[in-house]
Amino acid sequence: IALPDGIFGQRRNSVGVELGDRKALAAFLAERPSTPPNLEARSDIDHTASASGAAIRSPIDGHLVGVSHHLSAASAAKLMDEARRHVASAERVPAAARAKALRRAADLMETRRGLFMTLLATEAGKTVEDGIAEIREAVDFCRFYADEAERLFDAPVVLPGPTGEENRLRYRSRGVVVAISPWNFPLAIFVGQVAAALAAGNVVVAKPAEQTPLVAAAAVALLKEAGFAETVLHLAPGDGATGAALVSHVATAAVAFTGSTETAFAINRALAARNAPIAPLVAETGGINALIVDATALPEQVADDVVTSAFRSAGQRCSALRLLFVQEDVAERMTQMIAGAAAELSIGNPADVSTDIGPVIDAEQKAMLEEHLETMRRTQRIRFAGKLPADLPEDGHYIAPHIVQLDRAEALDREVFGPILHIVTWKAGELGKVCEAIERTGFGLTLGVHSRIDETIREITERLTTGNIYVNRNLIGAVVGSQPFGGSGLSGTGPKAGGPNYVARFAREQVISTNT
Ligand code: SER
Repeated sequence: IALPDGIFGQRRNSVGVELGDRKALAAFLAERPSTPPNLEARSDIDHTASASGAAIRSPIDGHLVGVSHHLSAASAAKLMDEARRHVASAERVPAAARAKALRRAADLMETRRGLFMTLLATEAGKTVEDGIAEIREAVDFCRFYADEAERLFDAPVVLPGPTGEENRLRYRSRGVVVAISPWNFPLAIFVGQVAAALAAGNVVVAKPAEQTPLVAAAAVALLKEAGFAETVLHLAPGDGATGAALVSHVATAAVAFTGSTETAFAINRALAARNAPIAPLVAETGGINALIVDATALPEQVADDVVTSAFRSAGQRCSALRLLFVQEDVAERMTQMIAGAAAELSIGNPADVSTDIGPVIDAEQKAMLEEHLETMRRTQRIRFAGKLPADLPEDGHYIAPHIVQLDRAEALDREVFGPILHIVTWKAGELGKVCEAIERTGFGLTLGVHSRIDETIREITERLTTGNIYVNRNLIGAVVGSQPFGGSGLSGTGPKAGGPNYVARFAREQVISTNT
């Protein structure tokens, strides 16, 4: 496997994170280039039945990062059979031991940040800033869910009852949890789902996005090193067919899924079609996230927050801003300020500390975004089109930031997952119509409000049921434990990741009432 020069230089950014642990990456790839890591030693799972290896190419320049062997539907089913044999022993591991392993995983992840930064940059095109934030989030998930394991599982909750009756509620594991995660947070969301399900004492079968199995493989290896047994955590690299086989299996006791709304519907259908116990789905899907700006907002702050929310991570966050509603009176000035700030963003190799916008994940996403821009050029008004530097690698997938003025909010009728901001104007007194337009999308993931009028903020936050509302700040980077994350409606089921109800969803409740 060829490692390109220039990507793994020993760079240090301002917080002292080492980017470019070339040796660690080379060792990792040499050790696990082509087989699902935790299945290597298993003779009972027939990898030869798998589809042939899928090349993992870097979105930076198309170089080969590794090869992933997709589990065929038959292999995925065998893996589920294997996983279910370990449900009882997984539950016997005390919550304190699970918590200890999660805390150890958090410590190890901090120590190995060089490897993860490099993998995140190479495999997922993450910038230095995004890579640091993502490792921090994964570490936070491990520590937060470790605390949750102890809080929920250490001792039963004693409930009231008449004299002579003792009522106790306790949490128990569900069994085999299938975790299906996306490529846009290949470490944080992958680890978050897995850590929560492990915290609840389950056996976990985790399918990473087909674009980013190597980060996932590194995370699984680390979790095992931290103390989780081979038998409780199983990596299932593959594509949509692999995921479908996992969720259709009768042993699936719960599913954690982050990805598209369509796939969440398909998972629901697959779960319902089984002749098996009813399994809950915890889904976190997309959104057409909006920000409402009125004439009292502080323009400089708005411009800064809009650029961060719409363009950071190349717009590839489910929380990212897609639709900006600006009050007409200030719209022109605001648009110019935002365009001016967007023009300052540097696009390029994510391993360069000065890069603001790295590549989008793959050719398919790039083509989808280009097609959307083509439609917007024909039907709407482009207010800003960023320029790509001339020296970008030909096989990289880069998209410059764009700002599109829409004639009406409905002109954006789906989630466009990239660095494209859409602006609509509204007239004073029409706040109700703006809220209606947001409600009509059916989504409810993130929402922003920029205003200095308390009544306006109250009206919007009361009326809309969006999962995460941000007032006078940007819309991204929810912090574990402080801003539990997840939406409603077409944006997901809840409970929110990084919140007090999440781990409990991967557990069963049992009440024991004793006549004493
Ligand atoms: N949790 C991420 C964020 O808040 C979601 O994409 O930005």
